[in-house]
Amino acid sequence: MEKVHIGLIGCGSISDSHLQAYAANPQVKLVAVCDLNPERARQTAAKYEVPGIYDDYKELLADPNVHAVSICTWNNSHAEISIAALRAGKHVLCEKPLCKTVEEALAVQQAVEETGRILQVGYVRRHAANIEVLKRFIDAGDLGELYYAKASLIRRLGNPGGWFADSERSGGGPLIDIGVHVIDLCWYLMGKPKVVSVSGNTYRKLGNRSHIENYAYYQAADFDPSVNTVEDMANALIRFENGASLAVDVSFSLHARKESAQIAVFGERGGAEIEPALAIATERHNTILNVDPQLTTPGFDFVDSFKREINHFVQLCRGEAENLCPVEDGVEMIRILNAIYQSAAEGREIRLDQ
Ligand SMILES: NC(=O)c1ccc[n+]([C@@H]2O[C@H](COP(=O)([O-])OP(=O)(O)OC[C@H]3O[C@@H](n4cnc5c(N)ncnc54)[C@H](O)[C@@H]3O)[C@@H](O)[C@H]2O)c1
Repeated sequence: MEKVHIGLIGCGSISDSHLQAYAANPQVKLVAVCDLNPERARQTAAKYEVPGIYDDYKELLADPNVHAVSICTWNNSHAEISIAALRAGKHVLCEKPLCKTVEEALAVQQAVEETGRILQVGYVRRHAANIEVLKRFIDAGDLGELYYAKASLIRRLGNPGGWFADSERSGGGPLIDIGVHVIDLCWYLMGKPKVVSVSGNTYRKLGNRSHIENYAYYQAADFDPSVNTVEDMANALIRFENGASLAVDVSFSLHARKESAQIAVFGERGGAEIEPALAIATERHNTILNVDPQLTTPGFDFVDSFKREINHFVQLCRGEAENLCPVEDGVEMIRILNAIYQSAAEGREIRLDQ
């Protein structure tokens, strides 16, 4: 079968993770890259020996040599570029979040349905090796029905600045940037129950803490300390139709003593911690058991998970797999995230079942 010809749009930080994984896949030919910044596109093309170089995504999409695209641009262009790509006949791997608003998300879903092309949402954590293992335990009923989950990603000094800190381009702060990963992961593991309500809070108390000295942290290429229109932290309680609930808290800036990541799901027969390593708690013969699955990568391995995500997309393009991260799951997450922002703004619970 012919190789899948890939074009990548948005040659910033995360593009390397996509390109490295494509470059390592023998069923792929990297044929084009595009960035608003022509020099960045040129440098990326040189690094990965890609022949097609564009600074306008519409020109890349008009290239018949491109079969499928990775969209790695700012969040505010995900919907527009996804729809244009689908209508140009390309399959799409769109970075998370699917987009900014529910209206945009539904328009992307409509384009998928009308074109019959594939759209995979970039929920990289679903592809992690330890999640595949945990899913086997859950699907076999080893944890019973999952009724509670906890998702927490705390950065004390971690506002990347640039477009991430500009709500117009990002759609929000830590909730939409990193919360999306962990809310999605818990929701996916819980069996994608229907959401009935959310209650959330967002805080803008500490700002981006750009005055902090002697402590290095990741900053976007166009970091500008004077621009920050996103929340420092957010928390939420999400309720599901089956009675299950999910508690979330995420931050870019917080007076916490350390960075932390906690993701856990709890069921009637067992529970599982996902960060920092997969660990299962259960009971047998009136005795509590803590079970540590022995895995080469018991935690979230960034490089390996991207490789698995990209390989899945290539399989989808070749008609060899079922889509693990379909557009509907992107739409549902945007509904949840927007409802949390609305709940925080209006100071009340938002019902999503009406
Ligand atoms: N899956 C993950 O773990 C993960 C991690 C980081 C970022 N992301 C997502 O990837 C996307 C990009 O993030 P990043 O950290 O690489 O940002 P970045 O700022 O480093 O790179 C974005 C690039 O996109 C280009 N761009 C923006 N709009 C464009 C357009 N309309 N046409 C062509 N190029 C355009 C910019 O010039 C920039 O070079 C975001 O949606 C982000 O949420 C995902």
